[in-house]
Amino acid sequence: MKQLLLIPGPTPVSVEVREALSRETISHFSQNFASIYKDVHEKMKLLFGTEHGVPFVIAGSGTLGMEISLTNILDNGENLLVISHGFFGDRFAEIGQSLGMNVDILSTLSGEHVDLKAVEDKLKEKHYEAITITHVDTSTGVLAQVESITKIVRNLSPQTLIVVDGVCATGGIEEKMDEWGVDVFFTGSQKAIAIPPGLAMLAFSSRAIEKRKRIKNVRTYYGDILRWIPVVEDTSKYFATPAVNMVFALQESLNRILDFGLPVYFEKHTLLAKKVRAAMSSLGFELVAKIPAPTLSVFRYPEGVDDESFRKLLEEKELFVAGGLKDLKGKTFRIGHMGSTEEEDLFLAIKRILETLEEMGIKVDRGKTLEAFLKS
Ligand SMILES: Cc1ncc(COP(=O)(O)O)c(C=O)c1O
Repeated sequence: MKQLLLIPGPTPVSVEVREALSRETISHFSQNFASIYKDVHEKMKLLFGTEHGVPFVIAGSGTLGMEISLTNILDNGENLLVISHGFFGDRFAEIGQSLGMNVDILSTLSGEHVDLKAVEDKLKEKHYEAITITHVDTSTGVLAQVESITKIVRNLSPQTLIVVDGVCATGGIEEKMDEWGVDVFFTGSQKAIAIPPGLAMLAFSSRAIEKRKRIKNVRTYYGDILRWIPVVEDTSKYFATPAVNMVFALQESLNRILDFGLPVYFEKHTLLAKKVRAAMSSLGFELVAKIPAPTLSVFRYPEGVDDESFRKLLEEKELFVAGGLKDLKGKTFRIGHMGSTEEEDLFLAIKRILETLEEMGIKVDRGKTLEAFLKS
């Protein structure tokens, strides 16, 4: 039976990427590696929508990206405003607090959006050195209004640095770092970029780099961007050993995405989201997010569907989805539809969900659900 890895990251890895991973490891000082490493830095800029940002490709997970963002632009005791639409927004507040920053958090009920007026009020009330926005919160599936929030920040508090977490968005949703005036954008490798977990990719604006230079006691060594900038400028230089084979994988995947065409790749995500949602809605599963992201769906169970039994039965059919987080635990499940996931994988997934519901004694109309999927 085909494994369907539909948790919202890590996502399925194509045969081509797996082949790239298994290529013989080469010297990270070689010209060959230097040119591949340079190429992935340049290509990541296309995904973040930046010409002017300085890109970084560093071994580590998405959380390292969060930490690098904050440690490089905020000093001890500085003010940070966190816009949170769930578990991963809250993580920014936790990191900020553990680093001794003064953190204020604007959050909301799961599935809803932080009120833009509340953002304006906060910015009028106090000066914040930085604000964080999670483009897609993977716990609720909420798509943040990044463009509107960045506009407000630029108008009301132009000195505030803007950080955007693109972990569950970059590659699957258009991002415009330069146009939106974002200072730090970052993502992880295991979601829409469709390679295994293990790389954090970031881009810093010149303002963010200038701010780093003004921080005297930066509380990170590995994550200090000033140590990485010489490597970005000359990718044959050494600071810390790059994850050579993951860089091969990244290049392979970025080439595939860019050959496919970024706008088409975004469109694919939108289309797959529509199909899954039409099918699940015909079964009485409702989306948690009022404005859902195209990369994943967080569905609330209808009456009578027990979370643990449902996911256990799906796992027996080699279909892997994720449980809910925080207040959504036990009430929802999360399914990813990003990266190299294809329509036929999702069609198969819906079939396995139908079988599972039947096994649980729930009456379903197979024809209606499959038609909803196919016709959307
Ligand atoms: C939006 C978002 N931010 C940050 C993270 C943390 O990334 P990681 O688990 O790779 O450290 C995740 C992980 O799923 C995420 O979805």
